[in-house]
Amino acid sequence: PTIFVITPTYARLVQKAELTRLSQTFLHVPQLHWIVVEDSPHKTPLVTDLLVKSGLTYTHLHMPTAKDRKLQEGDPNWLKPRGVEQRNEGLRWLREDRRAQPGGDTQEGVIYFADDDNTYSLQVFEEMRSTQRVSVWPVGLVGGMKYEKPVVEGGKVVRFHTGWRPSRPFPMDMAGFAVSLKLVMANPEACFDGEAPMGFLESSLLQGLVTMDELEPKADNCSKVLVWHTRTEKPKMKREEALQAQGIGSDPAVEV
Ligand code: UGA
Ligand code: MN
Repeated sequence: PTIFVITPTYARLVQKAELTRLSQTFLHVPQLHWIVVEDSPHKTPLVTDLLVKSGLTYTHLHMPTAKDRKLQEGDPNWLKPRGVEQRNEGLRWLREDRRAQPGGDTQEGVIYFADDDNTYSLQVFEEMRSTQRVSVWPVGLVGGMKYEKPVVEGGKVVRFHTGWRPSRPFPMDMAGFAVSLKLVMANPEACFDGEAPMGFLESSLLQGLVTMDELEPKADNCSKVLVWHTRTEKPKMKREEALQAQGIGSDPAVEV
């Protein structure tokens, strides 16, 4: 089965670096279709060009986050969920595109929501490829912990190892699960709820799709960390600004 990877992304200084790293990981994964959804009112030349040159099978979409839902400069990042409208747009495209193809409804496929800043081992894609409904595995460096993970007993997920509100329906990071295409096609209304309270975004999708005892543990019964919730530092531009003030800043024609 093909793995459809949905990635929300937005313009910032590190965007090209993030997407370069991600695309070069994906080049090593067979049968991967990358669905990149820009948080922007239009497709940008930077992302367009990167995708054209990437060598990947991809679909390029865009969907701006509604103004009242978008984080403003200086807001703490937990204030509003990120990437929601973009992931939903990816799901909308995928459903519509499958319906337009003969046998598309029953096509084998796996959907994974891969943020542009995380670190993905190649192994995590092979683990998720056999997803029947929803598969799960640990995520490293997340939630103020070394890792969060589903706890597996007798081959079933019985609870979650997490430091915060373990009573949430699915207390897992976005990077810690994949969903089968068939399940998403069979539940045409399932999507992310941008109004979900902090920490409940993942649950808002999964609640409509599975129960805890149906989760399929991967990565050796959830004993291995194969994906990391890394976050890229915002680069400092102090020197750049000083030079710009003197009229000798870096050439704006050079894409970074
Ligand atoms: C954590 C989770 O790992 C995310 O999956 C979840 O969406 C997020 O919390 C949340 O609560 O909303 P975190 O590292 O804090 O992630 O979020 P980011 O990596 O900053 O953003 C998640 C994705 O949305 C990224 O792919 C990013 O490029 C994209 N994004 C972010 C946008 O498309 N627009 C924005 O304004 C900000
Ligand atoms: Mn992130």
